[in-house]
Amino acid sequence: MLKATMVLPNVKLLILLALALIPLLSNAVDIHQVRQLAAKNNVSCVLVFGDSSVDPGNNNRLATTMKGNFPPYGKDFFNGRPTGRFTDGRLPTDLIAEAIGFTKVIPAFLDPNLKQADLLHGVSFASAASGYDDFTANLSGVLTVSKQLEYFKHYIIHLKRMVGEEKAKYIIGNAIAVLSMGTNDFLQNYYIEPVRSMQYTVEEYEDYLASRMYQDIKEMHRLGITRLVVVGVPPLGCMPLVKTIMNQNTCVESYNRVAFAFNSKIKAKLAILRHTLGIRDAYTDCYSVILNAIKSPKEFGLEETSKGCCGSGTAEYGDTCKGLTTCPDASKYVFWDAVHPTQKMYQIIANEAMMALNDALLR
Ligand SMILES: *[C@@H]1O[C@H](CO)[C@@H](O)[C@H](O)[C@H]1NC(C)=O
Ligand SMILES: *[C@@H]1O[C@H](CO)[C@@H](O)[C@H](O)[C@H]1NC(C)=O
Repeated sequence: MLKATMVLPNVKLLILLALALIPLLSNAVDIHQVRQLAAKNNVSCVLVFGDSSVDPGNNNRLATTMKGNFPPYGKDFFNGRPTGRFTDGRLPTDLIAEAIGFTKVIPAFLDPNLKQADLLHGVSFASAASGYDDFTANLSGVLTVSKQLEYFKHYIIHLKRMVGEEKAKYIIGNAIAVLSMGTNDFLQNYYIEPVRSMQYTVEEYEDYLASRMYQDIKEMHRLGITRLVVVGVPPLGCMPLVKTIMNQNTCVESYNRVAFAFNSKIKAKLAILRHTLGIRDAYTDCYSVILNAIKSPKEFGLEETSKGCCGSGTAEYGDTCKGLTTCPDASKYVFWDAVHPTQKMYQIIANEAMMALNDALLR
């Protein structure tokens, strides 16, 4: 009797667990395989360049208004601590580093608490509000990619002092560099400031940005980088802020078309770099991933696709989101604020990045 009554709840629990796992498996990435492949390929660390999608708090150290180091940012981070990450929890790069088996978070290179050992697992040089066009970062007083690459050179000097010339070379040669930016070049720069829009048509500006990316990757390669994850730009027209500004309830098609066209140009440049320099690149199609989540949220365990979790969800991000109340459960939302995805959405993007990385390492 006693046995039977004890078995019953366990069976129920198993069924519940199985049901809970189905949505995870339908969009599965085999973490075990990612880790094995990374180890087999001697993946040494993760080095990050870009904007708020991958900045863990470099901007905290800069004289800029583009910060996210106050509540409610970090609500779902360890101890609910705001760090400067523009989301409720961790960034895709944190999640990738964890999957590879290094560390739960990638620290900011400018973090004053950065320890020597952190340099071995990887750091982020990224800066919120930055972009492929240095002029974009200059508009907000944040780190341009040129400056991020300069800090990367400082990093190499530190690393050499720490482990010696040979070992440092090995670490950089086996590192995975991540590039994630482009959104601000359009939203903070081209569509707002008259400088670039007077110089270039939007198609010409896409070409300009792609050629900037090409030069940056050539410079990274010259410094020893051989493996690269490049994250495309998201569907810009689906951001709550853009929909509010354009006074539309649905995604703004013209903005999405620009993002889609720019991503094609990124991919074309990566193909050239693959053939000329032998770079092993993993392009991450965050455009399709986010659009799919917006079109079929239930498949991803999501519910709210049109507004952010912070404040009204229609316009607030950064300073304007400061101290506001939030939705009760950010993991049901695509967007954390009117611009940035939630940790939940970032996990889905990180899974896509890891699948692309798997393919690149197997290639
Ligand atoms: C990983 O390192 C080992 C030992 O140094 C080497 O034999 C092997 O070729 C490396 N693998 C790759 C894929 O670079
Ligand atoms: C950005 O600012 C830096 C530092 O002031 C300057 O050297 C650089 O030319 C600027 N770049 C652009 C594209 O405005």
